[in-house]
Amino acid sequence: MPENLSPVELAKYVAAERASRMVEDGMKVGLGTGSTAAWLVKCLGERVRRENLRFTSVPTSTRTANLAREAGIRVVTLEEARWLDLTIDGADEFDPDFTLIKGGGGAHLQEKIVATASDRMVVITDASKRVERLGAFPLPLEVITFGWQVTKVLVEELLSGLGYRDASVTMRMNADAAFVTDEGNRILDLHLGEIHRPRELSMVLNQIPGVVENGLFIDICDTVVVGHQDGSVLVEDAVAPAARGEEPAQDTDDSDNIFRDTSL
Ligand code: 5RP
Repeated sequence: MPENLSPVELAKYVAAERASRMVEDGMKVGLGTGSTAAWLVKCLGERVRRENLRFTSVPTSTRTANLAREAGIRVVTLEEARWLDLTIDGADEFDPDFTLIKGGGGAHLQEKIVATASDRMVVITDASKRVERLGAFPLPLEVITFGWQVTKVLVEELLSGLGYRDASVTMRMNADAAFVTDEGNRILDLHLGEIHRPRELSMVLNQIPGVVENGLFIDICDTVVVGHQDGSVLVEDAVAPAARGEEPAQDTDDSDNIFRDTSL
């Protein structure tokens, strides 16, 4: 274990280290982006060196691809890999249904494509990312550069129509310039406070011309590996609402009405 980690970094490290042991010889593995995913890449690099672990990776960003190559991990494109056994990635928030907000690192487009092309998605996170209701973390929205100001206005009008009266939308910046994604797009951050119907919100946001993808991951994550600041780790598998004795989330049953029902 690396020395002198802050409590938060220790929590991220232990989650990443635990998930790195889920990778087996011969697997094709999606590698997420962010500080927790960076620990994962380091841990997997260690396993390649010490155990001669042989697996193929598909990174979800240029940053992660560079880290993986430096760690001695074989990197291919998703086109080459076609389908993956496992994707391991961080998250900005996760709720009891394992619906996620991702994109704090601006990579949620590739992350969603890679995770969706995987038999299993495992999220690695520290305990602070667990929430009862998503939305305190601003929801990232990747939009194309052409006409982004118009897209922003349409997003604001949509949010207002959906009842998000105090919402604001900001352009992601990188120092003094607009943040640019690996695909050459921009990110709008949607400050919502609380997201009441993530499924509805995800679908209507993606209908707006200029929107490429939002950072809500719904029915994608199978397992969450939660690291704690005392160094302990909890591995939790997704449980269907019925198995928890609960009704399915309201907007899972409501797909006919999502474009008409504008109240929260
Ligand atoms: C990048 C992401 C990251 O997984 C998310 O931002 C979490 O990052 P970190 O592990 O640094 O807290 O979605 O687009």
